[in-house]
Amino acid sequence: MDFPWWKERVFYQIYPRSFCDSNGDGIGDLQGIVSRLDYLQWLGVGAVWLCPVYDSPNDDMGYDIRDYEQIMTEFGTMSDFQQLVEELHRRDIKLIMDLVVNHSSDEHAWFVESRKSRDNPYRDYYIWRSGKDGREPNNWASFFTPSAWSYDAATDQWYLHLFGEKQPDLNWENPRLRQDVYDMMNRWFDRGVDGFRMDVISVLAKDPALPDGKGQGYVFSPEYFAFQPKLHEYLREMRRACFDGRDCMCVGETSFVTTENAPSVVGDGRELDLLFQFDIMDMDGQGSKWDPIPLDVPRLGQIIQSWQQAIDWNTLFWGNHDQPRVVSRFGCTDTEELRVQSAKMLAVAMYLLRGTPFLYQGEEIGMTNFPFTRPDQLRDIESIQLLNRARQEEREAWAWNGILCKGRDNARTPMQWDDSPNAGFTTGTPWIDVNPNYPAINVARAMADPESILHFYRRLIALRKESNILRRGDFQLIPCENQHLLAYRRSYQGRSITVVCNFSAQPAALPPEAKTGETLLSAPLTEHQLPPFGYVVRRS
Ligand code: GLC
Ligand code: CA
Repeated sequence: MDFPWWKERVFYQIYPRSFCDSNGDGIGDLQGIVSRLDYLQWLGVGAVWLCPVYDSPNDDMGYDIRDYEQIMTEFGTMSDFQQLVEELHRRDIKLIMDLVVNHSSDEHAWFVESRKSRDNPYRDYYIWRSGKDGREPNNWASFFTPSAWSYDAATDQWYLHLFGEKQPDLNWENPRLRQDVYDMMNRWFDRGVDGFRMDVISVLAKDPALPDGKGQGYVFSPEYFAFQPKLHEYLREMRRACFDGRDCMCVGETSFVTTENAPSVVGDGRELDLLFQFDIMDMDGQGSKWDPIPLDVPRLGQIIQSWQQAIDWNTLFWGNHDQPRVVSRFGCTDTEELRVQSAKMLAVAMYLLRGTPFLYQGEEIGMTNFPFTRPDQLRDIESIQLLNRARQEEREAWAWNGILCKGRDNARTPMQWDDSPNAGFTTGTPWIDVNPNYPAINVARAMADPESILHFYRRLIALRKESNILRRGDFQLIPCENQHLLAYRRSYQGRSITVVCNFSAQPAALPPEAKTGETLLSAPLTEHQLPPFGYVVRRS
């Protein structure tokens, strides 16, 4: 079991609302996904991470679950879901579900009960406290709203929500809640799913004293809710109750994870199998993600190296539904040629590392950020709240710039399938605008061009599959004098593969380590020079 399936396969993340609409209501759905599975198989994908498809009022686009065992009506029915599982498995593609159990929707039956009275049997499914001098129980800020508490007049108490007001945090101290969650997870396993991506799993346990954070006003206080001692207890219990005895996997979204505490959750395989860390995603923000700064390539190398050393097996990703489009972010979209070249370079830089790749839908065709011009084009609660707050503080231009660079809606616009109206995503009116560049950037066009980003991703995935060096080899960073180059070597049983990537619009001389060997992949090289955003992969 050294190399279970989740170490051998490439994952593909689907954001169902924006993947493919089968019935013209403008919303992607399960049948839409089923209709595109041949495409995923062709690409070489071995597992799908499906963003939440549970019944939800969509205050946070499905990350606010109203009923864990119902499919969201717009997405289809349980029998559509069963069909999706079967069709995936028929193609030897595994399915992992996105599960949000740090919080539920305030419309979940548990919360509806919980808020009724202080002695309701579900009261302790959530975190309720009395106020202090007519104010919140403590000064914690939430991810989406100023305060992490909302007042409920019915029982004259406040409930905790680390995210939106409609996303009350579940109380993991309560053993009944925990058992209900495990039972629900087991029923999904019985429906055939192969694992879970656990949403913000690192913040399940809160410091029971709920102490004030240090500072003025509302203070964001992860020291009291991330990686608390009890987290490990809960994850171990979950492992025993749900995962033991099944060939299933669990990847955690471990916000606030560090190279120091990561081994505590993936070290002995009794908590999580894999984790998502955000050190790379946080690199281009100064203080907050809304203050963009350019990518520092040597630092990128250091971060990669420190993670490759910290844990045995990493997740490899450039984006997800919470991040902007990578080619706009770390690549270059100044010209079509550079978009294509830099998207390929980025794929090489990330997906030949040691670990499991997670591609995000549309990345394989080099989809870009969206040129938002008006607030009514936004759908994401985070961006909308940011803009509203910034308006009051007269910082609208600042917020708008942040949203253009980092807003989550950038990654949530519809998948661009072809050059027909609405990019072939829907025959109706899409729930969020389609990127106007779809006539040029779409799957059909990329399929027809053997030099496209899409074909390149397919080759890269195939290369990983064929190569023990890439799948199993260890990692070594190659220091470069040129500050725009990232270079590393993977080695296995006496053979090695050297990877060099140029993150700049200037040509760059190849480091000596990469001048020889059999070329597996490369941008056109001249005299040992990498072109702008070029790359080379050599085996020796
Ligand atoms: C995770 C999800 C994000 C969501 C948040 C709250 O970070 O990826 O989309 O808003 O959790 O559930
Ligand atoms: Ca639909």
